[in-house]
Amino acid sequence: MFRTHTCGELRIQHIGSEITLAGWVQTIRKFGSITFTDLRDRYGITQLYFNEQLNNILDAQPLGREYVIQAKGKVVERTSKNPKIPTGNIEIEVTEFTIINSAATPPFTIEEDTDGGDELRMKYRYLDLRRPTLRRNMELRYKVNRSVRNYLDSQGFWDIETPFLIHSTPEGARDFVVPSRMNEGQFYALPQSPQTFKQLLMVSGYDRYYQIVKCFRDEDLRADRQPEFTQVDCEMSFVEQEDILNIFEGLFKHVFNDVKGVLITEAFPRMTWDDAMWHYGNDKPDIRFGMKLQNLKTPVNSTPFGFGNSFQVFNNAETILAISVPGCSEYTRKQLDELTEWVKRPQIGMTGVVYIKCNNDGTFKSSVDKFFTEEQQKAIAASCSGAIGDLILILAGAETRTRKAMSELRLEMGNRLGLRNPDEYKPLWVVDFPLFEHDDEANRWVARHHPFTSPKPEHIDWMNDVNKYAEIKANAYDIVLNGTEIGGGSIRIYQRDLQEKMFAALGMSKEEAQEKFGFLMGAFEYGAPPHGGIAFGFDRLCALLGGQESIRDFMAFPKNNQGRDTMLDAPSSIDDNQRKELGL
Ligand code: AMO
Repeated sequence: MFRTHTCGELRIQHIGSEITLAGWVQTIRKFGSITFTDLRDRYGITQLYFNEQLNNILDAQPLGREYVIQAKGKVVERTSKNPKIPTGNIEIEVTEFTIINSAATPPFTIEEDTDGGDELRMKYRYLDLRRPTLRRNMELRYKVNRSVRNYLDSQGFWDIETPFLIHSTPEGARDFVVPSRMNEGQFYALPQSPQTFKQLLMVSGYDRYYQIVKCFRDEDLRADRQPEFTQVDCEMSFVEQEDILNIFEGLFKHVFNDVKGVLITEAFPRMTWDDAMWHYGNDKPDIRFGMKLQNLKTPVNSTPFGFGNSFQVFNNAETILAISVPGCSEYTRKQLDELTEWVKRPQIGMTGVVYIKCNNDGTFKSSVDKFFTEEQQKAIAASCSGAIGDLILILAGAETRTRKAMSELRLEMGNRLGLRNPDEYKPLWVVDFPLFEHDDEANRWVARHHPFTSPKPEHIDWMNDVNKYAEIKANAYDIVLNGTEIGGGSIRIYQRDLQEKMFAALGMSKEEAQEKFGFLMGAFEYGAPPHGGIAFGFDRLCALLGGQESIRDFMAFPKNNQGRDTMLDAPSSIDDNQRKELGL
C-alpha cells in the first residue's frame, strides 16, 4: 500500500499509530543533526521529522523541493504546534523513507503567494495547480458542478450530450472552424453554444434538458472571457418565462446554500432592461450599492437644470449624468485631478469630470463655480439626491459613451469606497430586453440575444414595421450577480413563419435562412412545443463564488490573453502533409 493516510488527515487521536504517507516535499529545514520537512498532497500538509540516524541517510540522499517521497513512521504530538494547519498538532517520526521520484527545481515557489508571474504559471500549469489557491478553486468548481447536477436531477432534467463538430451557431462571436478531411474544402464550426440542438431536443419531447458543456467563441478576451468556456445549458418545454425564472432562481439558491452556506430566502429582485440602462448605465448592474445615475438633461428639462447659463460643455451635451458619491466632499485637489485623469483614459474616453462638493457646513463648491451660483449648485446637487458630505460627479457628452463612462465611474467609486464586498451576493434578474439592436457600423438590425428569441406576443405585429424595431421587447432575461452577467436565456420562437420573419428582419434572404437554419425550421413543422431556456457561464459563477472576477484561475488549463496555451504551445502550425490532406 502506497499510503495509509493522506497528508491532511492525521490528528491528535492518531498519536501512536504507525502510518505511511506519500506526497511532495514542500520545505526542508535542517537543524544540526535533525531535519523537518513538510509533505504535501491534495489534502494538506504534514510535518515529517527525521532523527539523527535517518539524517545520515538524508546526507547521502538529499531531498529537494517537490521530490515525491514515501515516508513510514509514527504519529507523535508536536512540541511546537502550528494552529494554522489542521494537522498542526502532530508530526511523523519517520522510521523509513523512499525517494519515489526526484524533481527539478520548480521555476516558482509552490505556495499560497507565489513569486511566479502569470506567463510562467501558465507555462507550468501542472505546478501552479499544486498551489493551495488553485487547489481550492478546483475543489470549489467541482462542488458547484456537483451541486448544479444534484439540483437539476432533482427537478427531472436529463443530461444529454450534443455534438461539437457542427454548423455555425449565431451567438454573436466568430466561429472556430475545423477543416474536414473527408469533405475536402469544407469546414465544421465548433458550437458557440448548443442552442439549436437543445431546441431540437424539445421538439423530440425531452422537455427538461441540461448539459455542463464546453462552448467555443473566437472573440477578444477579457478577465471574464475565454475562447473555450463552460456553460450550464438548460432548456424546458411547456413553460412561460415565469416558470424558467422560478426554476433557475431555485438552482442558484440551492448552489449558494450548498457550496457557500449562504441562505437566500427572498425572491431575487427583477429590473427591466430600460431601468437598468437608465439608473446604472449598463445591463448588468451591481446592486450591492446605490449611487444611481441621475439624468440632468431630459427632454422635459432640455436646458440643463432649467437655468440659462453659459457653460457650453453642458449646453452642447446630448446627455448629462450625475452620481452622488457618499462621504467624499472632502476629496482633495490631487484626488480630483486624479479622477479627471481616470475619466480621460482611452477606455473611458471623456474629456473631464465636473464636481460639486456638498460641504459639511452646508455650502457648495464646484469646478464650475464660474458658471453656476451657489443656489444653482445646490439645485443640481438636490436633483441627484446629494446629501451633506457627498461629492457630486457629473459627466456630459454623447449619450452612449457618457452613459457607459458613468457606469464605469460608478463602479470605480464603489471599489474605492469598499462597497463591492465579494462575500456579499446580490443576484438580480434583468428582464424585457430589446429584441433587436442596431449595428451602426454595418447599418443593420441584429438580434440582441440570438435570432431564436421570441418577441413579446404583444409586439409581434411591430416586426412588420422597421421604425418600430427599437421598441420591440423580447421575452429574454439575464441573471446578474454582483455586476457580472452570469447567465442569459429566452422564450423561443417555435413557429416556422415567425422564425422566417425574424430571419428576414435580420436581413437574411429566404434562401440563406433555409440554407443555414432549414433543419430547425423544418423541425418546427413537426409539432414543436412552446419552449424556453437559459445558459449560465459556469466559469464565471465559480469565480464569483470564489470571490474573484477573473475566471482564469477557476479553469484547470486556461488560455492566456492572446488565446494561447503556452504550456502546449497551441495554436501552432501544421506540417505540409497534414495541410495537403485537409485540402488547405
Ligand atoms: P449567452 O451568449 O448569453 O447565451 O451565454 C450564456 C452565458 O455564458 C457566459 N459566457 C462566457 N463565459 C466565459 N467566456 C466567454 N467567452 C463567455 N461567453 C459567454 C456568460 C453568459 O451569460 N444559447 C444562449 C443561452 C440561451 O439562450 O439559452 C447563450 O449562449 O455568463
